[in-house]
Amino acid sequence: MSKQHWIHDTVLYQIYPRSFYDSDDNGVGDLNGIAAKLDYLVELGIGAIWISPFYPSPMADFGYDVSNYQDVDPVFGTLDDFRALKDQAHSRGIKVIVDFVPNHTSDEHPWFIESRASRDSPKRDWYTWHEPQPDGTPPNNWQSLFGGSAWQLDKGTNQYYLHSFLAKQPDLNWDNPEVRSAMADNVRFWLEMGVDGIRVDAVNWLSKDEQLRDNPPNPDYEPAEGVDPYNAQIHTYSAMGSHIFDYLNVLQDVVKSYDDRFMIIESYPDHPGDHSHYLSFYHNLDQTVTAPFNFDAIGLPWSAQAFRSSIGSYMEKLRPGDTAIYSMGNHDQHRLATRFGQESCRTAAMMLLTLPGTPIIYYGDEIGMHDTHIPPEFVQDPFEKNNPGHNLGRDPERTPMQWSDAPHAGFTTAEPWLPISGDYTTNNVVRDLQNPRSLLTLYRELLQFRSTSDVLRYGNFELLDHHEDVFAYKRMYKEKILTILLNFSGNDVDVDISAQNLVFSTLETTEFGGSLKPHEAVILTSDN
Ligand code: GLC
Repeated sequence: MSKQHWIHDTVLYQIYPRSFYDSDDNGVGDLNGIAAKLDYLVELGIGAIWISPFYPSPMADFGYDVSNYQDVDPVFGTLDDFRALKDQAHSRGIKVIVDFVPNHTSDEHPWFIESRASRDSPKRDWYTWHEPQPDGTPPNNWQSLFGGSAWQLDKGTNQYYLHSFLAKQPDLNWDNPEVRSAMADNVRFWLEMGVDGIRVDAVNWLSKDEQLRDNPPNPDYEPAEGVDPYNAQIHTYSAMGSHIFDYLNVLQDVVKSYDDRFMIIESYPDHPGDHSHYLSFYHNLDQTVTAPFNFDAIGLPWSAQAFRSSIGSYMEKLRPGDTAIYSMGNHDQHRLATRFGQESCRTAAMMLLTLPGTPIIYYGDEIGMHDTHIPPEFVQDPFEKNNPGHNLGRDPERTPMQWSDAPHAGFTTAEPWLPISGDYTTNNVVRDLQNPRSLLTLYRELLQFRSTSDVLRYGNFELLDHHEDVFAYKRMYKEKILTILLNFSGNDVDVDISAQNLVFSTLETTEFGGSLKPHEAVILTSDN
């Protein structure tokens, strides 16, 4: 059998560096803060961290607006701090994945400054510039995901430039080979330093219609439901253009030129649950080094049938060797505990850590952090600022990690950059570590169990059907079989099943008597 890639044998953990741990008391988390908490991650059982961007940035989109791809923003530390963090992580057996933002730079990146300087700048074509329409309006109807037209008029040269996100995030022109080569160099810089992989941001927009045709209206759009005019269109021409895989292959070629690295693709389908979208990445890229996140769980209701059908049909479509990476949450989505309810967090943990593929935990989900209410005067996220009051803002899921019941949750001694959830005195790491029944203890035990279970790490997957409120499946490896039952409901549920021996319960159950308690999840075997 070929050697397993480390990605198949690990559990990922996403760190939003502003909010993890502040080592220098300025209210913002930093790289040394991550280093200080590596032992926490080792004890949790994490095998790899993905760190959201920490590069120099004006922070218009909190680091997803990069002004230098080969350095560290002073608010997060220095390149030497990063090297030290990477070395300390590696010495503990933790891999390090960095975020790579290929679609856009900051408008303060030297490339854009040069590009905007004049119409005949040598870097003019590194971004997408276009004449206004005769009436002065933007070249077409494309919308920025963060609200408003995707075009910004640059007064100096009287042309519009394209920005699929903020005006402070101009889109690079990937049709230009110089851009591709410069971005490949940026990936090489981090791999050369020894990082183990990249998470590739917002890939949908790398390739667009060369004729810049107008997007058609979205017939399913219901304006009454929200503001979000972005969704009033189908993004036929502004995203997922015909060269997207050629451009991703440029990055993948760099990743493949180093041993044992991996590349994770961030790409949301236009229609949630559209598996053909995810499959296109598996089929057009190299499954041995690349996989997309699957974001189905973000949009699903908390229902056994919904998860059963989504995961069952995804697993059916993946080929041997494709890596499933189910995302239950991240820095762009409302917290898992808020979407599914606090009482469902234990079942969700069991599901996440027993499905095939590489699980990923968003920082704080292991202690059940929920969305924090952000009063208008504290709002930081441009998404919320541009569309106030419509629950689009991402600050609620980005609040500081709750380490202890010390002031500011032990995250910082200064005023934190975002408010801390009011429940930090009762919901924090220190307290949860002392509680054998806490969610954190459950995560630790499940991660420990998973690390010793070939069945969970490498086993096949088969759906079972026992009860409408129970998502049930088998994992099989060699002669061994584990049966997982997840009760999504708040009721006792009887399950008629031959596997009877309880290996693990998310509750205090010690013996499986054929029924699940409300919100209980179990692992069973038929062994004696
Ligand atoms: C991705 C990031 C998000 C960011 C956007 C633009 O979706 O996850 O946080 O705002 O890309 O870079």
